[in-house]
Amino acid sequence: MAATLAAPVPVRGPMAGEVSASPLSVGAPAATSPRQVLSLDRGWRFFEGDIPFPEILGQDESYDNAKAGKAWGAAAPGFDDSDWMDVSLPHDFVSFQPIEADANRAQGYRRRGIAWYRTALRFDPADRDRHIELQIDGIATHATIWFNGTVVDRNWSGYNGITIDLTPSATFGDDLNTLAIRVDAHAMEGWWYEGGGLYRPVRIVKRDPVHIITDGVYAHPVPQGDGWVLPVEVTAYNSGQAAAAMMVAVTLEDAEGRVVAGGQAPMSVPALGPAVARLDLAVASPTLWSVETPTLYRVQTRLMAGDRCVDAVTTTCGFRTTRFDKDKGFFLNGWPLKIKGVCVHQDHAGVGTAIPDALWDYRIRRLKELGCNAIRCTHNAPSAVVLDLCDRHGLLVMDENRQFNPSPDTLAQLQWMVRRDRNHPSVILWSVFNEEPMQGSAAGYEMVRRMAHAVKALDTTRPVTAAMNGGLFTPINVSQAVDVVGFNYQQDKYDAFHATHPDVPLISSEDTSAFSARGAYVTDKDSRTIAGYDDPVKGWNTHRAAWKAIATRDFIAGGFVWTGFDYHGEPSPWGWPSNSSFYGIMDLCGFAKAAFHIHQAQWVADRPVLALVPHWNWAGREGQPVKVMACANTEEVELFLNGHSQGRQTVDPYEMNHWMVPYAPGRLEAVGYAGGKVAARAQVETTGPAVALRLTPDRDHLRGDGLDATPITVDAVDARGRPVPLAQDLVTFTIEGGDIIGLGNGDPNSAAPEKGNRRALFNGLAQVIVRTRAGDTGPLKLTAKAPGLAAAGIRLAVTPAAAPAVQATAPSDLILDTWYAAPLAATQDVALAYRQADPAAWDDFGTRWAHDPQTADGYTLCSVPFTPHAKVGRHGGRVVFLSLVGICDIYEGGHLLGRKTTPAPGRMEVALTPGAGQRRLDVLFQTPAGAAFGFDRNVVVRQA
Ligand code: GAL
Repeated sequence: MAATLAAPVPVRGPMAGEVSASPLSVGAPAATSPRQVLSLDRGWRFFEGDIPFPEILGQDESYDNAKAGKAWGAAAPGFDDSDWMDVSLPHDFVSFQPIEADANRAQGYRRRGIAWYRTALRFDPADRDRHIELQIDGIATHATIWFNGTVVDRNWSGYNGITIDLTPSATFGDDLNTLAIRVDAHAMEGWWYEGGGLYRPVRIVKRDPVHIITDGVYAHPVPQGDGWVLPVEVTAYNSGQAAAAMMVAVTLEDAEGRVVAGGQAPMSVPALGPAVARLDLAVASPTLWSVETPTLYRVQTRLMAGDRCVDAVTTTCGFRTTRFDKDKGFFLNGWPLKIKGVCVHQDHAGVGTAIPDALWDYRIRRLKELGCNAIRCTHNAPSAVVLDLCDRHGLLVMDENRQFNPSPDTLAQLQWMVRRDRNHPSVILWSVFNEEPMQGSAAGYEMVRRMAHAVKALDTTRPVTAAMNGGLFTPINVSQAVDVVGFNYQQDKYDAFHATHPDVPLISSEDTSAFSARGAYVTDKDSRTIAGYDDPVKGWNTHRAAWKAIATRDFIAGGFVWTGFDYHGEPSPWGWPSNSSFYGIMDLCGFAKAAFHIHQAQWVADRPVLALVPHWNWAGREGQPVKVMACANTEEVELFLNGHSQGRQTVDPYEMNHWMVPYAPGRLEAVGYAGGKVAARAQVETTGPAVALRLTPDRDHLRGDGLDATPITVDAVDARGRPVPLAQDLVTFTIEGGDIIGLGNGDPNSAAPEKGNRRALFNGLAQVIVRTRAGDTGPLKLTAKAPGLAAAGIRLAVTPAAAPAVQATAPSDLILDTWYAAPLAATQDVALAYRQADPAAWDDFGTRWAHDPQTADGYTLCSVPFTPHAKVGRHGGRVVFLSLVGICDIYEGGHLLGRKTTPAPGRMEVALTPGAGQRRLDVLFQTPAGAAFGFDRNVVVRQA
């Protein structure tokens, strides 16, 4: 099996220190790299809804429509988007939609639909000889992309990144470049909330014509003999005119930045062709990467033309071995490690799929706190930042492909995932599908065989798996085409399958699917509430039973609970008004449900864990029995109510410990014992009524770069400062020095908007997600108010921070590229009189090169009718002649706007007064015989 590697010296270490939430580099240039990586997350204009293409009926229009650069409608470079909404990325337009009963249940009862994004890019003249690439990390869901009026890509998945070479048709200086994207999010790829739009980062990368391609460095260490080798494979491309002789130089730096290995290899990169260089770096005794000590190394790759570095990229790698054993499960660095995993969708309260990096960091830290050591990215490749964070925090990853289909298009998506993610030490498994109906058939087997082959063409160090929920025992099935068999909810078949397939490593790719609403401890179907005790529900598993089945079998490598966090959509067991899932160990905001404490008790081994469930506010139920659950990893646990023991029990590490306690207000306390000594204490108290609000940020220092964000917990406390578990107050927020980008409270039944500035507490908690503004120096102030409660306010320090380098953008121009020339006139007056005539009857000409000279001396009036963009119509603007040829006067509506007195081509700009509707620009040229006149670059109408 591919991932079976000899185990070197085992390394165990302390927990990783706090990992900062600094912005994470995606395809980072090395510090000294000549490449420029520019964020294109700002400067977008957005239109919600479709803009149908105008119907083309005429012959000339049909001819034009077939030509490069001549896209119509909202795809046309000069389209009027001036009244569209300004948005920045990440942007999930579906997260702004109301939750409505007649919309799709699986998508959280939010309408998806079609939308357009446009922006205009300004490239520096100095970029003229560079290779310019657009990188879009994800668009949900079907997308068509036009650059300067030409379709440059179509993409049919919301989960893969795309790169587009803009170089051939890029324009420079004042001549703007238009990017237009039509997104059709009607298309569904999943049965969960998928959001819509440009929800992941977008970049422009400028490189030398000879450069390392995107995801072009593969450097993933493997053990060899007594030491290690880092095989490095570098793919370069050359958009220049001639083959280029290059040297690839690679160094490996340890976590302290010391160079520990290096090497180089020659490479000849043909014009318009790729080339690959390979070299091996030997490393004797690296510090290993593990979930406890996630030590990362940096690989610096340089492409050298003699002494000149033409491109450089930094990637990270980690030294670790993985092995799936048929009898003993998973081994990391030679040590057995039970995989304590959760499934994770890309979705969070308030923001949907547009999750800022810092919010992913919060989510990953919450999972580490849970004692989780692995995630399964369900059911698609994640945002790049997720894997960076898993590398840094020490979480293992099952990376998953979305479409089960070996067609060229979908194999390309699968290979994109492997190519992008194969350097991450966190990634230990490639999953090619989830629960496919063809899994038990010969067709399924053949499909997986092809997909596994495509994976192995790019990475042979990790096993391929598939998440099967049936078909395991048919004569030909998918389990025969993978390296590790993934079971979804197949607890009853673990033993039988292992007995009949003793040589096959097994993992539970998905299990549990238990229901609960956070903070609720009474099940009430009418109010769509399910208690958090992890009670069995017919036909479904409990957290406790599912883990016990895995933990008690060495041959099951581990499991992935469905799910770590609740997610929008797929509400179960009920539909409307439930609109998000009930499955999470945490709710939509990352607040702990009782399942969090259950898994902490089951999974954490290096510190005592003890928590009590439920809260102790049961007014009206005095004397009645209340079920109490202690979640402990100690040896024994004793429960006290107001100081009176309710019994001491041996801890049941799977089922937890339970008591029925007649309710009396006061203090419920649990004491955990190990070796007969007190090892942990936990308590819950009956609180008084809420008197004040409280705000608690995840981080109290933010960077003023316009990207950094933090969730802030909102709760209500009683007169003694204790959080009130049942508070449901409606809270209103005001913010200064930042923006609220989303709100939530984890209530799976609430259809309240997640945007705006109001949110009710749900069972005592709500969350506000705030983001800084670029250039802010803080503080960011948030105030929370609710009727009858003392207000709360916090100030978060905002450290001035350089915003990432950004690609320059501008409002779209109206492009005047079809002009009409009146017949040659002998005098100025005759030529000017043509301003009353209809120019459509004259010859038309373009703006790419000057007009043919006249054969006799005279004057030529050139005219163009135009309708200014809405904003120019309202506020006025400018007409910019990027290059005007000849001596001329410029008129609009009878008024002289400007005069050019020299014949040589030159830039010219005139002011335009406000005025909507159709207008006309007339340029009266002096046209001596044989002299060029006209426009040898575009004429545009620009906002003032
Ligand atoms: C699984 C499926 C998941 C989710 C879950 C809900 O079968 O793989 O995506 O739908 O059921 O229980």
